[in-house]
Parts: sequence; structure tokens; C-alpha cells
Amino acid sequence: MLKHVLTPLAVTLGLLAGGPASAQGVVKIGVLEAMTGQQQSTGVQTLAAMKLYMAQHGDTVAGKKIELIVKDDGAVADNSKRLAQELIVRDKVNFLVGFAVTPTALAVAPLATEAKVPTIVANAGTSIITERSPYILRTSFTLPQSSVIIGEWAAKNGIKKVVTIVSDYAPGLDGEKSFTEAFTKGGGQVVEAVKVPLAAPDFAPFLQRARDASPDAIFVFVPSGQGATFVKQFIERGLDKAGIKIIGPGDVTDDDLLNGMGEQVIGTVTAHMYSADHPSALNKAYVEAFKKANNGLRPNFMSVGGYDAMHLIYEALKKTGGDTDGDKLMAAMKGMAWESPRGPISIDPETRDIVQNIYIRKVEKKDGELYNVEFQTFDAVKDPGKAKK
Ligand code: PHB
Repeated sequence: MLKHVLTPLAVTLGLLAGGPASAQGVVKIGVLEAMTGQQQSTGVQTLAAMKLYMAQHGDTVAGKKIELIVKDDGAVADNSKRLAQELIVRDKVNFLVGFAVTPTALAVAPLATEAKVPTIVANAGTSIITERSPYILRTSFTLPQSSVIIGEWAAKNGIKKVVTIVSDYAPGLDGEKSFTEAFTKGGGQVVEAVKVPLAAPDFAPFLQRARDASPDAIFVFVPSGQGATFVKQFIERGLDKAGIKIIGPGDVTDDDLLNGMGEQVIGTVTAHMYSADHPSALNKAYVEAFKKANNGLRPNFMSVGGYDAMHLIYEALKKTGGDTDGDKLMAAMKGMAWESPRGPISIDPETRDIVQNIYIRKVEKKDGELYNVEFQTFDAVKDPGKAKK
């Protein structure tokens, strides 16, 4: 009596009809991205990189034509869930890719499991995401990867007193926790921990409070797209003149926005997995090709998550000989290692999370533009959020 063991979710997904199956000769990639709203830049960057990969590598792999089906979820979890259902049931996609923010990835995780659809998180950074489904892999980053490293660096480099300011949702809490642990272990002190709303944040009152605590630095996490607003208000409130530094994961000095932040950000030190200035031949070619295809837009750290998601898909299909069985594709992707524009990366076969170099960088002016210039490398960093469990 099959009927009795079906979960309501299986019924919703219409799995009785046979589950995901591609029309012959076509591999469908459902892209769930924020093409509008506060996280729009992430959608634009990620999709542009995915398309660039296809333009460079052709749209046919292992005899199958690659097709992108793009849905705008506006970074709203309820939309992602509904659209993922449509993509799975109606379009019968073979992969899901995207997820501009953590809640959208968490909302889709049960569907990925139920439908056995390989799901690649190209953007979101909360540690726990990959634990929510055995069909999730990640090509972006985790907040603890960078936050632990900047915490240790700060403690060793004369920063004693810090105020933390983070967006009040999962990645912010991940970043705050992992930074605070590393920084206090190194002898530093967090004197105040501030959380700001994710939607339309006004940082000014929080910055005033932070200034009154006169720390050496503010550790900040804001999602890609909000860095310029934070920096503007930081400068307006005179925190730079008060000698307070900005430190954090590199989301705040996002390549997408850095040039508009003003010279006051020169000298800002962050830890992150990608800089448009990364000095490899592959990255130089990537930046040039990306700009050429996108009216001069500089690729940011979200873009490489999309570019590498496509690499993972192309190489997995080559390995399976074009077979789109979800379990076979997952097996093909686990443990894969390659060179990304960010440097060498791999997919941890145990956790399905990304292993990558984390770089410490300082904002500098080069050829009239602002860049995050890497000056120290931590090789092959696994997500410390998981290692501790
Ligand atoms: C997330 O929601 O996980 C997220 C979004 C933007 C970032 C980092 C993390 O820059």
C-alpha cells in the first residue's frame, strides 16, 4: 500500500508521476535567484557568471543541451519554495542552483531531498545549509570560514576591543559567533554585540552606540549589496576620524560596490574567498571576460559561486556520460577539485561543502580603482562551523 507511506510533501511534488526526468537530450537547470529586490545584485552577478561559463564552454555537455530556467524569487523564502516546486514538478529540472540568501536555501532543502534533485548553493553562507539535505552542495562560502580567520588576525594585530554589528539573521549570527570565539581566544574583547534588521537597515543609531563604546574596530557582516550603505553611514558618523577600523568577512567591501565607497575605505582589512584582484591568470581572464560581457561590471564574490556551480554541473555530466540520475550526479560531484577564479577549490565529499583558500586583504588604490588586495593566504579552509561538531 504505497499510498500510506507517501509523505504530504511527496504528494505536493507529484512524485507519483515519476519524478524529475529530462526531455531527451536536454539537461535543465532551475535557477532560483534574486533578480529583483534588496539582493538583486547577487542575482545579476550569479546569472551573468553562469551565462559566461556557458558562452566559454559551449551549451552542450556529454551530448546533452544545457538549458537554464531562471525564476526570480526576490530572495523571499516562500517564493523560492513555490518556484522550486514548479521547477521540479512542471519543468522537471535536473539541478537547482542559486539561493541569494540563507532562508531561500533552507526553504528548498526538503524539496531537494524528496525529489532527489542535486541543489547547488551558489551564494548563501550559513554553515548549517548543507546539513539540511543530502542533495545540497555549496560553491559559495560559509561565514565561519572568513570570520574565524579575521578574528585570529585581529587579535594578533593590535586590535583589542571590538564592537560587532551584524545583520540579524542566520549568517550574521554565524559570523558573530565564530568571530567572537576566535578573537576572544586570542585575547581580544567584544564590548558590544549589535544586530541590525536585514530589511532596509538604517545603521546610524547602531553606529552612534558603537562609537560611544570607543572600540579599536567594528566587526561587521552585512549581506552583499549593503556594504556601501554601511560604509557611508560609518563615515558620516565620523567613526573613521575617531580612529575606529572596519574589519570582517569581505562582504562589506564587496567588489560590486567598492569603487563607490570613497577613499576613506583604503586600508580596510577583511578576510574572504574572492577578490577581483586575485593575481592568477585564470582570474585575470575571468574578470576581463565578465566585464566585456556585462558593460564593464566588475565580478564580485557572488559571481564565482555561479561560475563554479556551472563547472560542477558540466564536469559531473561528463563523468556520468550524460546520465541525469540525481544520486549518480551527487556521487560525481562529491570530492571534485578544480581551479576557480578565486583559487583552488574542492567539494568536501563528507559534508558536500566547499573547501577553499581564505585570503586576508587590504583595500588599496590601483590604476585609479579600489581593490581588495590579498596579502596573506590560508590554504584549503574547511567550514569551521562543521569541524567543531
Ligand atoms: C546569506 O544569506 O547566507 C548571505 C547573503 C549574503 C552574503 C552572505 C551570506 O553576502
